[in-house]
Amino acid sequence: MAKVKILMVCLGNICRSPLAEGILQSKLSPENFTVDSAGTASYHIGKLPDPRSIAVAKKNNIDITHQRCRQFTKNDFDVFDYIYAMDVSNYKNIIRLAESEDQKAKVRLILNEVDTLSNSEVPDPYYGGDDGFDTVFTMLDMACTTIADKLQQESH
Ligand code: 4NP
Repeated sequence: MAKVKILMVCLGNICRSPLAEGILQSKLSPENFTVDSAGTASYHIGKLPDPRSIAVAKKNNIDITHQRCRQFTKNDFDVFDYIYAMDVSNYKNIIRLAESEDQKAKVRLILNEVDTLSNSEVPDPYYGGDDGFDTVFTMLDMACTTIADKLQQESH
């Protein structure tokens, strides 16, 4: 069976979506699932994740240091089955690039997987302190547990 492909998207692809990628990857078998991440902006292309994201991942036994920042492209709609946005602004920026209803239907706000229709957001921790990264990790870990359970059920 073809692998199910999931893309995590935030603004910079250095704080939130690299964590989301690493966390979801840690919950799924690589034989059946591909997880990647991207940013809607181009500021940090080619860079490693933010040191604070690397640190909070490491504290939770997840290594994200192989990741490099890339920008979301229209081609991602063809490659990925599920596209998870961290906040409403990211969601709108992705939807704006979609060229069909099928493409739009692939895009979800990640925390709606935990609390349907809440439209809650994973807050941007970039300008805050280290505790913001702990909060983001906890939120994403909850969301990724739900997503992994759902995906594993669907693939059976
Ligand atoms: P992210 O956080 O979207 O979670 O990667 C940000 C990283 C960088 C910037 C904004 C948000 N920035 O403005 O450079």
